[in-house]
Amino acid sequence: MVFYYLINMKKSFLMLAAVLIGGAAYAQQTNPLLQHETEITEIIKSMTLEEKVNMLHGKTMFSSAGVERLGIADMKYADGPFGIREELEDHSWTPLGWDVDRATFFPTGSALAATWCPGIAYEYGKGMAIEAKLRGKDMILGPAMNIQRLPTGGRTYEYLSEDPLLSGILATGYTKGSQDQNEAVCLKHFAVNSQENMRGFINANISERALREIYLTPFEMAVKEGNAWGVMAAYNKIWGQWCSENFNLQENILRNEWGFRGMIISDWGGTHSTVGAVMGGLEVEMPSSTYLGDSLIAAVNRGDVPMNVIDQRVRNILRVRLTVNPVPANVANQKVASQPETQAIAYKVASKSIVLLKNEGLLPLSNKVKTIAVIGDNATRTMALGGVGAGVKTLYEVTPLEGLQKALKGKAKIRYARGYEPAPQARWGQKLPENAMEEYEKRMEKLKKEALKVAKGADVVLFIGGNNREVETEGSDRTTIKLPFDQEDLLEDVAEINPNIVVVMVAGAPVDLREVEPIAKSLVYSWFNGTEGGNALADVLTGKIAPSGKLPFTFPRKLEDSPAYALGVYPQKEQGGGDVFVNLVNRDRFAVRKADADYSEGIFVGYRWYTTKNVKPMYAFGYGLSYVPFKYSNLAAKVEGENIEVTFDLANQGNMEAEEVSQVYIGRPDSKVERPKYELKGFKRTAVKAGETTKITISIPKDRLRHWNEFQHAWNVEGGKAVIYVGGSSDNLPLQTEVTL
Ligand code: BGC
Repeated sequence: MVFYYLINMKKSFLMLAAVLIGGAAYAQQTNPLLQHETEITEIIKSMTLEEKVNMLHGKTMFSSAGVERLGIADMKYADGPFGIREELEDHSWTPLGWDVDRATFFPTGSALAATWCPGIAYEYGKGMAIEAKLRGKDMILGPAMNIQRLPTGGRTYEYLSEDPLLSGILATGYTKGSQDQNEAVCLKHFAVNSQENMRGFINANISERALREIYLTPFEMAVKEGNAWGVMAAYNKIWGQWCSENFNLQENILRNEWGFRGMIISDWGGTHSTVGAVMGGLEVEMPSSTYLGDSLIAAVNRGDVPMNVIDQRVRNILRVRLTVNPVPANVANQKVASQPETQAIAYKVASKSIVLLKNEGLLPLSNKVKTIAVIGDNATRTMALGGVGAGVKTLYEVTPLEGLQKALKGKAKIRYARGYEPAPQARWGQKLPENAMEEYEKRMEKLKKEALKVAKGADVVLFIGGNNREVETEGSDRTTIKLPFDQEDLLEDVAEINPNIVVVMVAGAPVDLREVEPIAKSLVYSWFNGTEGGNALADVLTGKIAPSGKLPFTFPRKLEDSPAYALGVYPQKEQGGGDVFVNLVNRDRFAVRKADADYSEGIFVGYRWYTTKNVKPMYAFGYGLSYVPFKYSNLAAKVEGENIEVTFDLANQGNMEAEEVSQVYIGRPDSKVERPKYELKGFKRTAVKAGETTKITISIPKDRLRHWNEFQHAWNVEGGKAVIYVGGSSDNLPLQTEVTL
């Protein structure tokens, strides 16, 4: 018997070995990163230690060195996931003041995610890559794709979604779109950088299961399915260890398990040691050489770091370097980065991202509307720049007011009043002048009066408010989701004078809508929607196109309903202060600071929490109306090989063409482990003509039903019943059926 097992074990081992070797050979053939291995070996042989180490740290603020002697070009990084950042001085954050670096401002992450469309994400990546190439850059520092765990998270506008599948599919699309143009991406921030407060030193205490199922899955998808060439290590720690030197994350999981063959760079100022970082898997310390410069040479000479580790670091960089064709200096920056082709992509994303939350008939604006009062600071505010972090010096940005003026020219009269203005903010280390707030109140009174005057007698009021890029910013989380600058007071007063109010919220993250929702007859969520944002918004409001965006995150009724707040694990106690990025600018290294973030809600992030705990949100994940009613019918599902094939009919019962994002959620009622009621497992955006019905098929790999088994430290796909729910949002799933796995 034992003998039988041994023979069989040997057989399986040989089979496994054959598969692995075959698989490796196959990967080598198809993975562009592995096309130059022999050449790379030769290059490395001919390099000195100094030349090698010279590649492992920043050369300038946004580049790392190649080897001039060997004709190997520097790596040039393009900051920002939503537009190519302007050119800066080599060793400071001071802009060079060029003109050719005026780029397209692409809608930010949450807007892209609201399209729920991998094809659009692909075009987005392509557009970014086209501009990056024009600027002579090799690697885009994006997509930014951490899970939107907190409604207040400072970078929610930049990140994609609270859901790992939606985030992963979009990040994969972005990655392919960019890399098909021969431009590397850099997935960031790896991993669990889901809060900005104390991001420079916070330690995430997180269950293995939540880490795998929620926080790592998007990265895994973009690596395995998108073959991303670059990854940026996050600032924070996980389980007590800095991400940038986390062997388990970078070597075990990213490289060995997922097969990542590219390079890992640190976040700016996010390297913390020499031996730890280089042994832990980091290739490049950005933007300086504090740890991976001279001290690394010394560490190698001391024998603390073996040469083969250095060689592997260099190899990983060279794989990317030899895959991405450098743009010659005399070709780069010859014409303005923003081009009609890329602007058209920005328009497309924006036009499909806008979410209609409520409509009591005011939208689309009727032809009978002849006078429109536009009120609100965001009607004229540009969003390409602001706050801390990468922004875009854009060639142009159409504001909502400009978009409306163009679309309604000769059709309706627009009267504009600002209505409110942002409160004065003290800059770093400075104090506000004593009477600043008093003066502000006075100005606000005046602005309100003007708004009330404009509202009076108008056929419709378009209130365009929300957040701005100072309110939502890298480097700090919001303390509240309440609308800033007394917008609710203003709205209430306007409503008394003219109740025909359409509210357009321009924001990248959720806000508290409890007071706004009852006032707004129609309510629209627009985003930090890029260069063409105003045109897209006007086209939706006037009915040229139907709104088709769906929320990529849950809108809580109140902040305390959201999981981390409900459990009291956020905000955490600060020990020390200061943001890592701000410290970097101020050339102040890290003080020793400590804080822990307990991810106590585990896998119950976003809608997984609300649906399972029966907490009613203001607007559910996946929600978004259209100008037409959609009807779902005829659901069927069957297991076919490795997939679950789900089919159903979608009818457009309205009088205009419209697009709908259909969503498939799956529940595992008999699961042996704790699970959410159901989870998003597939989705599809489809255009349906007026009055027509179309058959939709969504193919879901069975593997998406996996869960992380914390005892085996491995993925399991359980057999048994799978309940399939289909509909237009996570809280409106009219169709239901079952399959057995
Ligand atoms: C951000 C990164 C960014 C880098 C360079 C950091 O503060 O976290 O996302 O790419 O700065 O600007």
